[in-house]
Amino acid sequence: MSVIIKDKNIFVLDTKNTHYVIGVDEYGCAHNLHWGEKCPTEDYEIPFSGDEDSNHRSRDVFREEYTVFGGTVYKECAMKAEFSDGCRELDLAFTGYESGENTLCLKFRDKVYPLEVSLLYAVFEGLDIIEKSVRVKNLGENDICFEKLLSAELCLPDTEPYTVLNSNGEWGREYYPVRTKLDGGRLIFESRRGTSGHNNSPNFVAYKNADEKSGEVYFANLAWSGSFVTELYRDVKGVTRALLGMNDFDFEYALKGGESFEAPKVIFGRSVGFGEMSRQLNRFGVKHHLPKDFAEKELPVLYNSWEATEFDVSAKSQSELAKKAAAAGCELFVMDDGWFGQRKDDHAGLGDWYVNEDKFPNGLDELIENVNALGMDFGLWVEPEMVNPDSDLYRTHPEWAYHYPTRKAHEIRNQLVLNMTRADVQEYIFGCIDELLSKHNIAYIKWDMNRSLSETGAENLEYPKMLWYLHTKAVYDIVDRLKEKHPTVQFESCSSGGGRSDWGALAHYDMVWTSDNTDAIDRLKMQKYYALTRPVKTMRAWVTDVNWYNRKTPLDFRFNVSMRGALSLGGNLNNYSDEDIAECRKYVELYKEIRGLVQFGDLYRLLDLERDEVSADLYMSADKTEGVLFVAAVNTSCMKPPQPLHFEGLDDGKIYTFEYDGIRYEKSGAYLRNVGIVIDVKTQYYNRIIKIKIK
Ligand code: DGJ
Repeated sequence: MSVIIKDKNIFVLDTKNTHYVIGVDEYGCAHNLHWGEKCPTEDYEIPFSGDEDSNHRSRDVFREEYTVFGGTVYKECAMKAEFSDGCRELDLAFTGYESGENTLCLKFRDKVYPLEVSLLYAVFEGLDIIEKSVRVKNLGENDICFEKLLSAELCLPDTEPYTVLNSNGEWGREYYPVRTKLDGGRLIFESRRGTSGHNNSPNFVAYKNADEKSGEVYFANLAWSGSFVTELYRDVKGVTRALLGMNDFDFEYALKGGESFEAPKVIFGRSVGFGEMSRQLNRFGVKHHLPKDFAEKELPVLYNSWEATEFDVSAKSQSELAKKAAAAGCELFVMDDGWFGQRKDDHAGLGDWYVNEDKFPNGLDELIENVNALGMDFGLWVEPEMVNPDSDLYRTHPEWAYHYPTRKAHEIRNQLVLNMTRADVQEYIFGCIDELLSKHNIAYIKWDMNRSLSETGAENLEYPKMLWYLHTKAVYDIVDRLKEKHPTVQFESCSSGGGRSDWGALAHYDMVWTSDNTDAIDRLKMQKYYALTRPVKTMRAWVTDVNWYNRKTPLDFRFNVSMRGALSLGGNLNNYSDEDIAECRKYVELYKEIRGLVQFGDLYRLLDLERDEVSADLYMSADKTEGVLFVAAVNTSCMKPPQPLHFEGLDDGKIYTFEYDGIRYEKSGAYLRNVGIVIDVKTQYYNRIIKIKIK
């Protein structure tokens, strides 16, 4: 695993099972030569590339590593820039490379203007994951203005059409999958909202005839939480290209003389089957991407008060809930919205991050001490990027919200968005949260964001369209600064549920609020697609009492679903009987035993609810010595025959023991894989959680 360099112009990114090969031709154009199984390095060569045909240059059909706008290139480009004299063309020449054991930087320079463009790559021990990005450097004095500055272009192998998986969700239906066969034309998934949002995902999964275990799968994730674009198109020769980056809609980035800028990273790879893709991304996330302080630590079982009390919080009511949460075995008690300013409902208070004295006459510490005395840590909800017009902050600083003086700034959920590009706003937010964390024993912050940007006037900016970038950058910077100063505090990313659950957020926040829809049946599907391309441990999953469609699922079934991620409780525990609390405790204690497997293990999706009427997820330890199997079904057909359950992820030659429905199994990994066991799913809300161990 490394970067191999052949003849100073062929670069092989040698991952665990694949080669990603780049060749720079004599004209300075970087071609993708191969992305797939490994071949002898000496066989790789640069295609003949100087030809032109009657009406276009052949560059349009090259598998370029990064297409810039300029010359007679008409295909979609990744970069478009304007120089200070009005020239809107780029013409790059290859100037050399720098490489480390696991990194590669290919350098290019504009032939006329003082612009350096570098393509950056990194590979990772034991994984088929590659990071790719672009860095631009202004070597002159005048501003260079980018109206498009995507992170990566990826050319998929061969010329047969791919099926592309992305999401087409919304609030409460995040991650809902959409699959499109791309024969021709352009396929665009994007957000223009200032957050990655609930709708499309900043990623793609492209495949032909693939399933969990077989078939080539090509995938990429953009590490960016702002407006994004994922574009795939198939050209006239059948080549499918993908471009990912910050959305160029209403975008600009001005690079000042002497400055450099690195676009958000793209994390991409190739796997055989979807299962291996998920496992690779999970391992990569834990080892190389999530914030270091908690990446390799087990996340606590938390209780969140939102669904129980909504805005109606007080020292007394929260302390009562905390007693129940502690009895249920929770380790972290989180008070959600409602504790600050004049917050009675969603009409007032955002921006006033001081404790509401009517609700907490003795301050926050009374509650925190009660929570700590029960053996739990304390966590708090904030929504720092927002302001209600009915707030002290807005009355003092109306100019701090994005606005145009001539336009009405529309409220959504009765709130406006703060102009996060202003240094004073950033300092105010940092100061408020820093003070909370410095004065109180707070172990966790849930950072919410409940509306998209609009009317984005920002008079403070020389280049106003840079705000799309600067807003998200400010959020990351504040979280990073807070984390640096308070390294024991965990941060959760939330945006009306899972509206900011991308790999950008995952580099700064330790976990994600998956969705406001906590219905266990819907969650089985949402969680599957969340974990398909994101680390399992980041997926906060509450057991609640939600009853949107009058289908109250049994408590044990809800635990079965939530225990597949970062287990949390979120119901109104005041309505739980002693027996219910005892049942919660039983599952919470079981989760504590197995959470290492869930949060760090390898996930094998053995049965699929949509395909098999039954969902079976097996989480195995990396050394294959133990695992935990979750099986659940909502409603199967009445005449459903007993069905085989074939295991994956076991060591063929080792013996595994476990008990399933009263039968004790002691079988080899080979047997369990090939023959499997037979399960008979006949009841509604079927639920089994099975620990398996090597003998
Ligand atoms: C939206 C979040 O997704 C909920 O969990 C909750 O925190 C509310 N906001 C509070 O306003």
